[in-house]
Amino acid sequence: MILSIESSCDDSSIAITEIATKKLLFHKKISQEAEHARYGGVVPELASRLHAVALPEILQETTEYFPQLKAIAVTNQPGLSVTLLEGIEMAKTLSVLLDIPLIAVHHLKAHIYSLFIEKEAITPLLVLLISGGHTQIIRMESFEKMEILATSMDDSVGESFDKCAKMMDLGYPGGPIIETLAREGNEDRFDFPVPLRNSPLIAFSLSGLKNAVRLQVEKSKLSNDGTVSPQDQRDIAASFQKAVKLHLLQKSKKIFSKEKIEDFAIVGGASANLYLRDAYEKLCREYGKKLHTAPLEYCSDNAAMVGRYAIKAYHKGDFIDPDLIDIVSTKKRQSGTLL
Ligand code: KG4
Ligand code: ZN
Repeated sequence: MILSIESSCDDSSIAITEIATKKLLFHKKISQEAEHARYGGVVPELASRLHAVALPEILQETTEYFPQLKAIAVTNQPGLSVTLLEGIEMAKTLSVLLDIPLIAVHHLKAHIYSLFIEKEAITPLLVLLISGGHTQIIRMESFEKMEILATSMDDSVGESFDKCAKMMDLGYPGGPIIETLAREGNEDRFDFPVPLRNSPLIAFSLSGLKNAVRLQVEKSKLSNDGTVSPQDQRDIAASFQKAVKLHLLQKSKKIFSKEKIEDFAIVGGASANLYLRDAYEKLCREYGKKLHTAPLEYCSDNAAMVGRYAIKAYHKGDFIDPDLIDIVSTKKRQSGTLL
């Protein structure tokens, strides 16, 4: 069995996965959403302190598996440095104490492996990763070869949902809030610009759309005694979500027309969005591709996907010396095309 730990942002999670069967034997996650909600986003130092309490609490529930553990896996990049450290320190300690190897897991690769929890992996695969930190299209040839075909120039999809909700004082995380509001709204009421619509660039950008939303929020406030009316909230949410969808679809189409790979997947926190899933279902039908998604509970950060990725790393003997494991925080990360 492998014990896996995730603490790259605001979810503390530990899982136990059986290597031979890929079965998830234990999985628990403690989310910090409520604690960060009052700040409208994640406060790294607060997140770190909460991990320091939550991770040992979850670990207590896994001690019965300790004699059967063959490796410890932990997310080491990318993420918030102060929160990654909490998981890494725990992983290093367990690896040394139990005298079993340590596996360092790249968070974005783990998101891709959320598709394969208790399943066989599918390759080659095209993947749209939409999370709180990233928007990317990745070509996964194999476990070893993952190439970034398109990436974001500024805000990620999840971040733009979070900011849109924050502008209207709706709480955190914004993704599910905006998606729910949008269901009742008129998506054609506000004509928000579809980012990079006339650009040949195969890349993602959401800061311009965010500014257009901000201007509309200010306008709506002026016409309603300083608050956004419930109807305007719903229509802004729906019109914003539609513009995000059109942007993602437009750039995905460009990649679909070049890439022969038939299997396509959406992963990451924002892949839980059913409106976006529905749009991709239609797009995939049009282009003869098969759409894969992870179960909703494994879209956002969790240790089950870290454990699933680690099985493959374990078979490859891809271990790291506990003294050498390091964090590569979001800010320090080098940009490149290979994941
Ligand atoms: O993958 P994740 O848990 O963390 C990162 O790796 O960043 O993604 C979290 C992000 C948040 O920005 C959250 O607002 C967004 O995923 N999200 C959604 C939805 N559910 C979560 N975005 C849009 N629609 C949703 N239903
Ligand atoms: Zn994530």
